[in-house]
Amino acid sequence: MSVPDVILNNGLKIPILGLGTWGSPKGETEQAVKDAIDIGYRHIDCAYVYQNEDEVGAGIEAKIAEGVVKREELFITSKLWNTFHKPELVREALETTLKNLRLDYLDLYLVHWPMGYKEGGALFPNDDIGKVQHSDVDYVDTWKAMEKLVEAGLVKSIGISNFNKRQIERVLEVASIVPVTNQIESHPYLTQEKLIEFCKSKNITITAYSPLGSPSRPWAKPEDPVLLEDAKIVGIAKKYGKTPAQILIRYQLQRGNIVIPKSVTKSRIASNFDVFNFELNTEDIATISSFNCNGRFVPMDNHRSHKYYPFNDEF
Ligand SMILES: NC(=O)c1ccc[n+]([C@@H]2O[C@H](COP(=O)([O-])OP(=O)(O)OC[C@H]3O[C@@H](n4cnc5c(N)ncnc54)[C@H](OP(=O)(O)O)[C@@H]3O)[C@@H](O)[C@H]2O)c1
Repeated sequence: MSVPDVILNNGLKIPILGLGTWGSPKGETEQAVKDAIDIGYRHIDCAYVYQNEDEVGAGIEAKIAEGVVKREELFITSKLWNTFHKPELVREALETTLKNLRLDYLDLYLVHWPMGYKEGGALFPNDDIGKVQHSDVDYVDTWKAMEKLVEAGLVKSIGISNFNKRQIERVLEVASIVPVTNQIESHPYLTQEKLIEFCKSKNITITAYSPLGSPSRPWAKPEDPVLLEDAKIVGIAKKYGKTPAQILIRYQLQRGNIVIPKSVTKSRIASNFDVFNFELNTEDIATISSFNCNGRFVPMDNHRSHKYYPFNDEF
């Protein structure tokens, strides 16, 4: 089974379904990537800050060596971390990621967040009271450095993640390359209709992250709602004879969004991929969208004071 592609604004194709890798633990990530490739995934979403790119790379390398897949059949995304926003740090950050992933180019490189952190040290450079120290590098300058990576042939496409409308407009003012995607949190509690409509009007695709509600995010509290257990989602899943996860993935696919559910569990990696043999009807899509409650599972709350924090604007 091959996954349908979405055509990006530069004419390149991205498989609409990919494997997420945030929080995929050391010792399990390589196998998860191998399983995913065997099952048919061709798109893998990585990031330097996930600290597991070396295992993702080992999994990819093994499957290429086995002849299961060719490099050019894979779509590999990674992300520039916040401590490397200074234009002179961008290329080296990418080269480290390429080395970790054992690749000589990326299909897509994203600016992970609009906010920069203090350069040169820890991934989360905390001060004495545990507050992340900011950098005031402007993401538009970072964007110009990202464009150079395309010119150098090190990445095929570039994009952004967690950018709001105003921030995208500022990027577009300076861009000679329009971002191909904005990777943002999206699921029934945070449908993101307005931001999606805006991005579409600029020919920027949406990649929906945390589509299952990110149940293993480190800051989850016992009293937080669990999207996968929401009785309304479970009810719709029963009606279609599918799992709640399959409904949540299908919801994104039918809205035309690229979607990247994460799992390191082989049976889930497989069932999350088994979503191309049914369709939600229009009423059920509308019902699912009506669960929207601005419910963000990845709010990066402790960065609210950063001048480029994206979630203070309405969208
Ligand atoms: N750009 C950004 O800032 C950003 C932020 C967050 C996420 N992301 C990307 O988006 C990906 C997905 O988001 P996410 O990891 O936050 O969360 P998610 O995909 O919504 O949920 C992943 C969690 O759900 C579990 N799970 C997966 N399939 C399941 C199923 N069929 N039934 C029940 N549970 C299931 C996984 O457990 P097991 O692994 O134990 O099976 C894992 O704990 C990330 O991995 C990352 O690549 C990007």
